[in-house]
Amino acid sequence: MTILVTGATGMVGRHVVAELVKTGHRVRALTRTPSAAGLPDGVEVVGGDLTDPPSLEPSLNGVERMYLFSVGRTARDVVAAAKWAGVRRIVVLSGALADTDDSEDGYLAVERAVEDSGLEWTHIRPGEFAANWLDWAPTIKEGRVVRRPYGAAVTQPTHEADIAAVAARVLVEDGHTGRTYTFAGPAALTTVAQVDAIGTAIGAAVRFDELDPAQARAEWISNGYPEAFVDWIFAMWAESVRAPAPTNQEWADIVPRLTGRPARTFAQWATDHATDFR
Ligand SMILES: NC(=O)c1ccc[n+]([C@@H]2O[C@H](COP(=O)([O-])OP(=O)(O)OC[C@H]3O[C@@H](n4cnc5c(N)ncnc54)[C@H](OP(=O)(O)O)[C@@H]3O)[C@@H](O)[C@H]2O)c1
Repeated sequence: MTILVTGATGMVGRHVVAELVKTGHRVRALTRTPSAAGLPDGVEVVGGDLTDPPSLEPSLNGVERMYLFSVGRTARDVVAAAKWAGVRRIVVLSGALADTDDSEDGYLAVERAVEDSGLEWTHIRPGEFAANWLDWAPTIKEGRVVRRPYGAAVTQPTHEADIAAVAARVLVEDGHTGRTYTFAGPAALTTVAQVDAIGTAIGAAVRFDELDPAQARAEWISNGYPEAFVDWIFAMWAESVRAPAPTNQEWADIVPRLTGRPARTFAQWATDHATDFR
């Protein structure tokens, strides 16, 4: 069968493509810029834009299953086009915090569009991506330092390859229709512990400079982060320092249960990305 991967050039999408290629199914990849896709041989790369549903027609032709990168505003039209083209199953890349965002551009809008379509659906809701910390690469490269507030904040980072492995599994395997899988990496870690793991991976000490939250807030906003986002994420980290959550074992168990192998640790993620930080 042919499986369409949208968001195929993304952090998770590239791994979804790689996982699906291993299954032997025909893999088609959607991108807005086919010439820059850089995907493996054997993958059919097709142009299209999820914000312009009619542009998806060539990519949907003959597709049975689809991995859907979340673009809320046009989700209903994208799903309708997929159904019309004969797609029978859609796996949505959503997020663990989906229920907190009911906006027209949020994950819930996409999840609901897919549920309402009558097609087979599975939602995958990963927690925080380990890859968010690629933001630290410039200062680690430059001065072996991370400057942040809330060094004691605890998160349970998820390796993008594990997110993709879950997505690929539920795309090809039966028994996941109508399920929502919320999951995260294998262990909750403080920010400082994550910085240390990157240091170990690159074989150099990386210092953590704890910033005053008010100063960091002003810096982030002047660097272009939306104020509402900064306040939201800082409040979450502050709460996590006040009451550090232990590993959410229910979330940690999903990757091993669905993929049949242990979830990748943050240390593994840091090793896989060592060249990004050197
Ligand atoms: N960061 C987190 O902690 C976290 C946690 C949970 C969920 N999530 C969600 O996970 C998703 C990010 O996944 P990711 O890291 O794999 O994505 P990513 O690296 O940001 O890449 C997304 C890809 O989607 C494609 N794309 C973007 N807009 C498009 C459009 N209008 N039409 C067609 N393709 C489009 C782009 O490819 P082209 O440029 O080639 O078209 C891009 O490479 C987001 O929805 C995010 O909200 C993130």
